[in-house]
Amino acid sequence: RNISIIGVPMDLGQMRRGVDMGPSAIRYAGIVERLENLGYDIKDLGDIEIGQAERVHNNPDTNLRNLKAVAEASETLAGKVNDVIGSGDFPLIFGGDHSIAIGTLAGVSPHYENLGVIWYDAHGDLNTGDTSPSGNIHGMPLAVSLGIGHEDLTGIGQSSPKIKPENIVIIGARSLDEGERELIKEKGIKVYTMHEIDRLGMTRVMEESIDYLKGRTDGVHLSLDLDGLDPSDAPGVGTPVLGGISYRESHLAMEMLEESGLITSAEFVEVNPILDEKNKTATVAVALMGSLFGEKLL
Ligand code: ARG
Ligand code: MN
Ligand code: MN
Ligand code: MN
Repeated sequence: RNISIIGVPMDLGQMRRGVDMGPSAIRYAGIVERLENLGYDIKDLGDIEIGQAERVHNNPDTNLRNLKAVAEASETLAGKVNDVIGSGDFPLIFGGDHSIAIGTLAGVSPHYENLGVIWYDAHGDLNTGDTSPSGNIHGMPLAVSLGIGHEDLTGIGQSSPKIKPENIVIIGARSLDEGERELIKEKGIKVYTMHEIDRLGMTRVMEESIDYLKGRTDGVHLSLDLDGLDPSDAPGVGTPVLGGISYRESHLAMEMLEESGLITSAEFVEVNPILDEKNKTATVAVALMGSLFGEKLL
């Protein structure tokens, strides 16, 4: 029962300042002690280094903002994650914006034949340079992991694609761009939007998701964007969307994942302390990690 923590103070995948302080905020909210109390051995490997932002966004070859620095950090992260799994530890990664999932999945995927991914998020993060309304790489990591997007990003790690479309479950979607909708339909990606969560309830959504992934995967990565939660429960995020998953539903989802024994790696991203209220969002992230790793009242 060993967990290795990697912080990724990445803010170059989007335009709001402050999300680079996410890893500190999560540590400050007491994650190490919380997991130690559950009987885990925790190694905090510290933060990986992030390069400089482009002073002006004027690279004529691409509309992807800070492409070079994001690609370099992703390569470093992929190596670290790969090493952690190689050593037999559970990798737990703190963001940073969601572009870090490019590196995380590049490091995880060599270890599994059929890697599953739960993408817990208000967004699909399935854009490419062509479909992105913003040029922000944090809106692209799931597409990149499918092998779709800029080759400087899909080329990170040992091979591409990192995951198969049928091994993905998106939970909490309520903001998709047109190109993302098309990709979801074209690839047949399984999505539980807020509509399904409202209608079926989180219990059924998680039962179905777990059943679906159990049959077809040999490992499942949880990529949890805090903006999947409602902004009233997780206000400290750069791209909040009204009408999200509640803290209680999220807590239940984490407990059900823990009971399933399915999750083999996890990342918690988009915590932005500058936009937060008294570190509420990091505190929520830490509480959800507590549930994911087996906290029980009785
Ligand atoms: N779809 C929008 C874009 O591509 C927003 C993406 C938000 N992503 C995130 N990880 N918060 O720019
Ligand atoms: Mn999001
Ligand atoms: Mn996201
Ligand atoms: Mn509970």
